[in-house]
Amino acid sequence: MNIYKPLNSIFKPSVSYFSGYSIMHYDKEFPLLNVSPGPASISENIFKKLYDDIYSKNKYSYGNTPLEMSHRSPEYLEILNNVNLKIKNFMEIPNQFKILWTQGGGHGQFSAIPLNMKRINKNIKGGYLVSGTWSSRAFIESKKFINSENLLQNFYKNLTSIEYDRLPAQISIPSDIDYLYLCSNETVNGIEFKKNGIEYPGRNVLGKTKLIVDMSSDFLMKKVDWSNIDVAFACTSKNMGVAGANIVIIREDLIDSLSDNHSTPCTLDWKLYAETNSLYNTPAVFNIYLLNHIMDDYINTMKTIENVNDISKEKANILYEFLDNNQIFKPVVKDKECRSNINIPFIVGDGNEKMMEDFLEYCSKENLVGLRTQTPFSYKKLNLKEPLRISLYNGISVADVKHIVAIMKNFTLIYFK
Ligand SMILES: Cc1ncc(COP(=O)(O)O)c(C=O)c1O
Repeated sequence: MNIYKPLNSIFKPSVSYFSGYSIMHYDKEFPLLNVSPGPASISENIFKKLYDDIYSKNKYSYGNTPLEMSHRSPEYLEILNNVNLKIKNFMEIPNQFKILWTQGGGHGQFSAIPLNMKRINKNIKGGYLVSGTWSSRAFIESKKFINSENLLQNFYKNLTSIEYDRLPAQISIPSDIDYLYLCSNETVNGIEFKKNGIEYPGRNVLGKTKLIVDMSSDFLMKKVDWSNIDVAFACTSKNMGVAGANIVIIREDLIDSLSDNHSTPCTLDWKLYAETNSLYNTPAVFNIYLLNHIMDDYINTMKTIENVNDISKEKANILYEFLDNNQIFKPVVKDKECRSNINIPFIVGDGNEKMMEDFLEYCSKENLVGLRTQTPFSYKKLNLKEPLRISLYNGISVADVKHIVAIMKNFTLIYFK
């Protein structure tokens, strides 16, 4: 139960430039609300457990602290098995899928995908639904290794990947495509393939085409129809704790179909990860240990993935309701069918930079941070209005979102008084 900082009723913006990039606490008496797109907030319950495991009552329950735990120890293996089991149960992943824990984050998989898929067929062709910055990066990477095509090239004619704000209602797959790649939630653009909005193509559309999905920013937030999926992956830095590890959920028969081609770098080789229980090299032990606690927290507090999805929709509705009916803050993605419930970009004062910076300064004074990130995707260079963004991962509660809206409302009231 958060006791939020009482809202300031007076605000005098500083005359000097305030960038709003910092994620520092302004008032340490009160909790910090961090809405960063990732690495993201982790709930207080987890920190209590972490503290116990490192400093106090459980200190020796793993032989030593989780920071010092050997990946070859039975204690780590038990944690790894527990994490896999909890994720399988929570996400209802069928038995014909294997869970791998890789490193190199999401980007590692941008390279691993073409490199492994071409072991099924050396002339393999990937069809990429480039619907934002992350699928764009994956597409660019794939072209280093295989023949691939951007299937949405014409749909977003003349737009750069940071301007995408819609999705096609229908997706058709050319017959020469062996695998279809998509990102189910574009973290930067705020576009999402949603079950009750736009869905990603099902088996009836896919036919024999394999489906590979980047779930980095929506994994553990909504139900997945696994009958459509061949490979899914997600980096850990959003809903799974700290950056460093990456989950790959992959059909066992797809792993079996990979030729023993030893030219795939070992750290990207799905088959090698599968054969060694993700222990060929030293895994990100701390990530997996932390995730064990995070999964317990999700299971205890949110119970089911359906429930997480409902909470996620509720949080997004509260924020969109405000953004849609306000003169100062405007959502970037207008289309309700595909706007993300998780990452919500918005423009302040129709792109007025001074007003945006004043707003960021006000938020900082209210202990709200993470709305502006120094991304590698430059809006200025393209002469575009820079959006701010609020990310509503599982570490952000409904009460937190209500408080964020209260901060935004209060800013409008006192700024224009
Ligand atoms: C959807 C998505 N895919 C991939 C990535 C890249 O992940 P990483 O930075 O772990 O390589 C991100 C990072 O934010 C992301 O949001």
